[in-house]
Amino acid sequence: MIGLFDSGIGGLTVVRALLKAAPQADFVYLGDTARTPYGNKTQETVERYAIEDAQYVIKHGAQLVIVACNTASALALPKLQEAFPQIPFIGVVKPAAKEAVAITKRSVGVIGTRATVNSEIYDKVIHKYGPHLKVMQQACPLFVPLVEEGMLNDQLTKLIARRYLTPLRQANVESLILGCTHYPLLKPLIQRFMGKKVKVIDSANVVVKQAMEEYPQLFAAKDSPKQTIAFTDTSPLSDRIASKWLGRPVTAERAEL
Ligand code: DGL
Repeated sequence: MIGLFDSGIGGLTVVRALLKAAPQADFVYLGDTARTPYGNKTQETVERYAIEDAQYVIKHGAQLVIVACNTASALALPKLQEAFPQIPFIGVVKPAAKEAVAITKRSVGVIGTRATVNSEIYDKVIHKYGPHLKVMQQACPLFVPLVEEGMLNDQLTKLIARRYLTPLRQANVESLILGCTHYPLLKPLIQRFMGKKVKVIDSANVVVKQAMEEYPQLFAAKDSPKQTIAFTDTSPLSDRIASKWLGRPVTAERAEL
């Protein structure tokens, strides 16, 4: 059983990548919709929330936890591993940073929540594997609420994207890491604004790839797979977005942490 969690519906982009790669695998996903967003909270709070989220998926049978949230991956991974030493955790930051190093010659752009950008984790990890690369980061705090509201192609979202992304476009970054699992929902809009030549890296795909390479047995096809989606606050809107995104009807369970 694979466990995944995020502050809200954004981590479903990782579930989508998982379902594409291993449609019959067992998984339990928790979206902490009652407390989203995490991206403007302190490290202590993100650590506490992440530990509660991980506890939920582990209680529901997770043998591996994919931290489907850049903010929690950036701020809480060491505390998570310390709290649950028997469970392996895979965060989204390292696989996305390594992918960027593999496909970029000069300059990488990174967009994420304020907490992720302030942690400078992408800068550190990219420079570890590609010390020659120039890294340019930009916090996009309004993207998460826009995604949670389902405003994926709204005029307002386009204006805000223009405001956030213009410096990165002007700097001619060659690749752009979507350093927040909510952002792949805005990928078409972001790609259009940045131009076709910019390679947009979706942390969802790369984290699933890494997890499958390291723990192939957990991705094995089951005859009747157990696939649970739970939110700490359920609503018709979040079910609608989840269903649209996953291409199948979703009625999320209500999770009590
Ligand atoms: N999806 C999240 C991330 O990857 C969290 C965004 C938030 O809650 O602010 O960072």
